[in-house]
Amino acid sequence: MSKKGRVFSGARPTGRQHLGNYLGAIRNYVALQDEYDCIYCVVDLHALTTLSDTDKLREWTYEMVLDWLAAGIDPERGTIVFVQSHVPQVVELHLLFSMVTPLGWLTRLPTFKEKVRQQPDNVNYGLVGYPVLMAADITLYKASVVPVGVDQAPHLEFTREIVRRFNHYFGEVLIEPQAKHTEFPKVLGIDGQQKMSKSLNNHIEIAASPEEIQERVMQMVTDPARRYRSDPGHPEVCNVFTLHGFFSPEQVAQIEVDCRSAAIGCVECKRLFARNLADYFAPFRERRAQLASRPNIVWDVLAEGARRASVIASETIAEVKAAVGLP
Ligand code: TRP
Repeated sequence: MSKKGRVFSGARPTGRQHLGNYLGAIRNYVALQDEYDCIYCVVDLHALTTLSDTDKLREWTYEMVLDWLAAGIDPERGTIVFVQSHVPQVVELHLLFSMVTPLGWLTRLPTFKEKVRQQPDNVNYGLVGYPVLMAADITLYKASVVPVGVDQAPHLEFTREIVRRFNHYFGEVLIEPQAKHTEFPKVLGIDGQQKMSKSLNNHIEIAASPEEIQERVMQMVTDPARRYRSDPGHPEVCNVFTLHGFFSPEQVAQIEVDCRSAAIGCVECKRLFARNLADYFAPFRERRAQLASRPNIVWDVLAEGARRASVIASETIAEVKAAVGLP
């Protein structure tokens, strides 16, 4: 294999994926397979830090991985897809890392402070250690490249610091990873205000039927200054226009002209967008339906992924323990 190195990324199990997940992550996961050996992990243990009820974990893992496979993440090309908790060595590494992590590094992280604001009644020990577990994920598999959104930049920086510190104490055992930020960092929801997310229910699922897509798209908020059909629009502030840029590459220039001159109205523009979106994901929906007709395929892929991930993890953890000096 003459690939450039190893990619690792993790995503919390959130069920059916939406446009934000697709443009921000999945699309890059798929593309990176050309150049790297890729490992993609469903971080169910990380999910426990914020989840109050865990009864959805299994279903959300299944639906997310089904979307990944249908989108082109392909174990037959060597890609490993697995569930974090299926390879328990990560928990050992997390504990060893915790011994070289100054508590202040964790409590000062903007991501931690944000969570404290969001869930003041559930500031648990695991939540403080969230980045430690993430550092363990990445280094256990000796990844050199980590595709993540910019919101994860502090966690990557933290990982690099831990690696430097660990290697300084115990010898050059671990690899310092590089973040690879994606060019489509923030996809707004149908409200046109906040980042697309399932919890805000402002999302559009990539597995949605053409009818569901149409229904969601018609609810999208456009240029608020354009109150009447005859008002000229401002495409630069319109989320529908931004997304046309991706899903309607051949029409976007004309849409811009027609919006500014009020030659096209928002309803018409959204109909066009809904149609293009449904067409774009038509092959995806077909592959998804095919995969879903073999309900075990997801669990088989994950079992094989865990088996292959374990081989790497066991090797690393043996090196790490020896370096630390555990008898
Ligand atoms: N913290 C990441 C997020 O919330 C998920 C994650 C866990 C991750 N472990 C990782 C991402 C390792 C990249 C690499 O999105």
